[in-house]
Amino acid sequence: MTDLWSGRFEKGLDPRIRAFTSSLDLDERIALIDVRGSIAHARMLGRQGIVTQAEADAIVAGLERIADEMRKGAFPWPADAEDVHSAVERLLRERIGDVAGKLHTARSRNDQVALDLRLFVLELLGSLDGAVVALATALLDRAADEVGTVMPGYTHTQRAQPVSLAHHLLAHVEALRRDRERIAQSRARTAVSPLGAAALAGSPYPIDPSAVAAELGLAATSRNSIDAVADRDFVAELACVSALAAIHASRLADEVVLWTTSEFAFAELSDEHATGSSIMPQKKNADVAELVRGRVGRAIGDVVAILTILKGIPLAYDSDLQEQRVPLYDVAAVAPALEALALLVRGLRFDRARMRAATERGMLTATDLADHLARRGVPFREAHEVVGRIVRERLAAGRDLAGLTLEDLRRYDARFEAAALEEIDPARSMAARRSPGGTAPERVREALAEARAAFAER
Ligand code: ARG
Repeated sequence: MTDLWSGRFEKGLDPRIRAFTSSLDLDERIALIDVRGSIAHARMLGRQGIVTQAEADAIVAGLERIADEMRKGAFPWPADAEDVHSAVERLLRERIGDVAGKLHTARSRNDQVALDLRLFVLELLGSLDGAVVALATALLDRAADEVGTVMPGYTHTQRAQPVSLAHHLLAHVEALRRDRERIAQSRARTAVSPLGAAALAGSPYPIDPSAVAAELGLAATSRNSIDAVADRDFVAELACVSALAAIHASRLADEVVLWTTSEFAFAELSDEHATGSSIMPQKKNADVAELVRGRVGRAIGDVVAILTILKGIPLAYDSDLQEQRVPLYDVAAVAPALEALALLVRGLRFDRARMRAATERGMLTATDLADHLARRGVPFREAHEVVGRIVRERLAAGRDLAGLTLEDLRRYDARFEAAALEEIDPARSMAARRSPGGTAPERVREALAEARAAFAER
């Protein structure tokens, strides 16, 4: 075979080196995108008179046939080609003759692969966004029924204060909303066509990069031809944005694991979403949640690989960049993890009685007792001290806050009033937190409506 660059060489490439340098296997995934880019480029060459209209038509028709074969899985990939770009050009030449050689006018594989990767990353950002929406809407749908469900909120994994289950689920939604913002911003930076940069310096032909960009649905063209072929920030951004979304999924997955233990028993997995054990007949395992947690390890590894490959390579294009392909493809595994978690969330059966009971053990409303005194003019620090003593002595007596009488309270501080006994009810405590963004059911209902509207927009 002859390589695209064989003119300069006396000897052909050692097949062992060919096997090492080839990106053909990796390229199959971007092959259709590559042909799409070539079609847009060929049309532009014809419109600009860089090749004749008849030549452009012949090239486009040949490429369309190739795209068709690729879609059917019938494209005869030449095993010894260096990459998709040479494979397509070779097949095109076999089919339409020497005019195929005009396709590469005013183009290099450097701007060609940069374009392919941008279009591919845009596809991945699209599926990631869809998966984020799927997970967020699952949470929103579940939250709608749990506004009044009281559960322990945690800090340091210790019971802290009573919160609404819906409020807790909406906290996860907020993280996913930030993910969507990041995806939208990355999209805008990725949707830039590098075509026309050629190898790195630009092109002496009267090309029309904006028209090519528009045909491909890209909003802008690169401002600098060297940056156009050197830049892979969009790959790094996709990996970072995906890893962060995956981390959000992982934190939720971790709670699903905790909540479905018999120690917590706040929730039970639907049978359709859980797995059993080959030896222990009683087991019902949250494998899906564990796999989501584990997959984040991969996603973080992908970020590190992608950034490390970028580090320290001089401008403009270097072959190191080809090695980003493996972690880039692996990043695609994040979206299915989010989608699986969305199913899990939809299938969870919450145990409201267990959650409520958990708020009644562990003195979760001790803060409300301190607030009671503080509202009556006691400096909060002093009130905290008084309630700390109540907690210590109740704990020593093996008791909780429930069952306290006004006389009990007055023994610690005469300023306690009867209302304190109602204020330490967990549902009361939750309802009292009406501050903006707080857990009071009326605030949570507003937050739910606001979040729903935000998701309905796009
Ligand atoms: N296979 C290369 C990649 O994936 C594209 C070709 C880039 N140009 C070159 N001169 N090697 O990055």
